[in-house]
Amino acid sequence: MSSNAQIVISQFGGPEQLNILTTEIPQPQAGEVLVKVAFSGVNPIDVKTRAGIGWAAEHNKNNLPWTPGYDVSGVVVKQGIGSEKFNLNDMVSGFIGFPLRGGGYSQYLCVSETELALVPEDISLKAAAAIPLAGQTAAQALEKAQIQSGETVLILAGAGGVGHIAVQIAVAAKTKVYATCCEDNKSYIEILGGTAIDYNNPSELEALNHVDVMIDLVGGEAAIKAMACLHPGSRVITVPTITSSMVCSHAAELGIIGMGMLVEPDTVQLEELLGLISAGMLKVEVEQCFAMNEVAQAHLKIESGHARGKILLDMQM
Ligand SMILES: NC(=O)c1ccc[n+]([C@@H]2O[C@H](COP(=O)([O-])OP(=O)(O)OC[C@H]3O[C@@H](n4cnc5c(N)ncnc54)[C@H](OP(=O)(O)O)[C@@H]3O)[C@@H](O)[C@H]2O)c1
Repeated sequence: MSSNAQIVISQFGGPEQLNILTTEIPQPQAGEVLVKVAFSGVNPIDVKTRAGIGWAAEHNKNNLPWTPGYDVSGVVVKQGIGSEKFNLNDMVSGFIGFPLRGGGYSQYLCVSETELALVPEDISLKAAAAIPLAGQTAAQALEKAQIQSGETVLILAGAGGVGHIAVQIAVAAKTKVYATCCEDNKSYIEILGGTAIDYNNPSELEALNHVDVMIDLVGGEAAIKAMACLHPGSRVITVPTITSSMVCSHAAELGIIGMGMLVEPDTVQLEELLGLISAGMLKVEVEQCFAMNEVAQAHLKIESGHARGKILLDMQM
């Protein structure tokens, strides 16, 4: 170990505001471990915060330079006093510092052991970095909707980071799953066990009715249009926070139960998701893994709105 490199935002703006800063390797405090980060997940909230949009940007505007990143996987390389949950060289995964602290785009990171889960040996560190935020959002959205076996669930953006996990969990819960995507992703949705709806072909959505639950991962006008497939008493969980109140108000006008949500890190739930991956019951798609110094391209990929599954940063490249 010599030095640490972290990606920082010194002012809000475009991807060019992401710069690499060399710092000292931090020392773990009591109850913390030092993690040598292998991969960091890139999520839409990182991109929005970098651009100065949303709650995390508002709360961090006086806290720049700031290191984004909430998803990490890596190896424990040092233990702070009283840290007993992990052994040296254990592989760990975490949904860390959410929503204010962030910090995941770092080569070395000190983090409370309570924020980390042990990664089973048969899971790759890529999958372990891809699952925390998106997997827990998918699981918590479906829990909030209280999906029941036999119900019909419509997932908007079924091929994305959250969507591809939500489709698999909803299928496993024995619901009938429809998921919107572009033409190119239709076969991918079918592989996951859902029925694909091409959002560029309005007749496909118009033909769908009596949907009991909608998991909205797009928000805005797309969510409002898709509500025509629902019935009074249906439930909508609208996940993008920026349009949440608008979507919920429209739902209320139609007699639909609309709820926004903010994902909450939960290590026990993360362990369960890692267990499902280990058992072969959940598959995590990583479309692309960028080197740390290609972080701007990783952000542009998320900004395109068309990532399939997850985008990662390789923090040791
Ligand atoms: N409230 C919370 O706690 C919370 C937590 C996590 C995420 N979020 C928010 O939830 C949203 C989804 O997150 P994510 O990580 O899944 O994003 P993502 O991975 O970037 O989503 C990309 C996917 O969106 C699809 N898409 C784009 N436009 C679409 C449209 N009009 N209709 C249907 N699908 C469309 C794309 O599918 P095609 O390529 O097939 O077009 C692509 O697969 C983001 O807004 C994110 O900020 C909120």
